[in-house]
Amino acid sequence: MQYTQSQLLEKVSAAIEQMVCNPQPDGLYAPIRYALSLGGKRIRPVLMLHAYNIYKEDVDRIMSCAIALETYHNFTLLHDDVMDRAEVRRGRPCVHKVWDENTAILSGDAMLILAYRLLTEGRTADAEPSLLADAVGESDAVGRARALQTFTLATLGVCEGQQYDVEFERRDDVSEAEYMEMIRLKTSLLLACALKMGAELAGAPAADAEHLYEFGEKMGLAFQLQDDLLDVYGDPAVFGKKIGGDILCNKKTFMLINVLQLANEQQRAVLTRWLQQTDFDAEEKIRAVREIYDAVNIRQMCEQKIEQLFAESLRVLRAVDVPSERLQPLVDFAYRLMGRQS
Ligand code: IPE
Ligand code: IPE
Ligand code: MG
Ligand code: MG
Ligand code: MG
Repeated sequence: MQYTQSQLLEKVSAAIEQMVCNPQPDGLYAPIRYALSLGGKRIRPVLMLHAYNIYKEDVDRIMSCAIALETYHNFTLLHDDVMDRAEVRRGRPCVHKVWDENTAILSGDAMLILAYRLLTEGRTADAEPSLLADAVGESDAVGRARALQTFTLATLGVCEGQQYDVEFERRDDVSEAEYMEMIRLKTSLLLACALKMGAELAGAPAADAEHLYEFGEKMGLAFQLQDDLLDVYGDPAVFGKKIGGDILCNKKTFMLINVLQLANEQQRAVLTRWLQQTDFDAEEKIRAVREIYDAVNIRQMCEQKIEQLFAESLRVLRAVDVPSERLQPLVDFAYRLMGRQS
């Protein structure tokens, strides 16, 4: 059977609920429960299960790997919110705001380790029943080893991307190509890895696993551009994050990079002043920068780029060598993701 996105989402949510138990010390684990219970779209585990489901039906068998990815993703968010001086996520105060930065660092570290434990042991604590199927056959073991390697490679890349992202805040000569590589690392790799791991765990042909990876890579680029767009133009009640955070941090997004190119002399002077100012009123800066974005029509340019990357991602997906109806859930997934407002 081919599961729908909502069926897989339900399975993932149930597994996460089951995993989040109550070990001590509470100061370490309460923030983890907080982060994982606030939901989010859960796109990475669902992508993994969809990819696996192209080849196999027993998706529950890899549930520990799927929720490992979600645990890892949430770890990156705890640290990312400290790095980005963010205050709100999923409509609630960030972990470093409810507790403090030390908590976000250490609970985040623990989540990374829990992700590895889920991948290797199928559980987060000794007392918990393992989600791993009892009899792991030899082919499963090979798939798991490959998937673990894929995960390790991708997650190191995420650190590289996050480092570039922060370094770019202080530069004013970041090119669009540098930006695209930075978001490929910080965001695309994990989506690509989710799909490839799903294929590897199912024992899919290596060429298919590669094409699924490339699909995730392209879709991830469109996804991050969309995230950057929503950071300026989204509805905060739906987006769940404060609007304008990227502008306040001088994030070198596709929009800012291109606005710096397209702006006239006077607009560029205004932008440069805001980029250099250290003491400012947040709302005033957001308003002023957005005014210039609007004047050069950057939203439209960004939307066109998203469309283009999205179309490319679907082209790559078609290269996966299975009957096209097996790929339909991923096509539907991609369309829904591109229409997202949160
Ligand atoms: C947020 O990821 C970080 C980015 C890569 C933009 P999501 O948009 O998947 O966040 P949640 O998990 O749904 O909240
Ligand atoms: C986040 O990019 C990428 C990672 C967390 C690795 P953003 O910084 O744009 O994500 P949000 O907007 O805070 O969710
Ligand atoms: Mg951020
Ligand atoms: Mg960030
Ligand atoms: Mg963002």
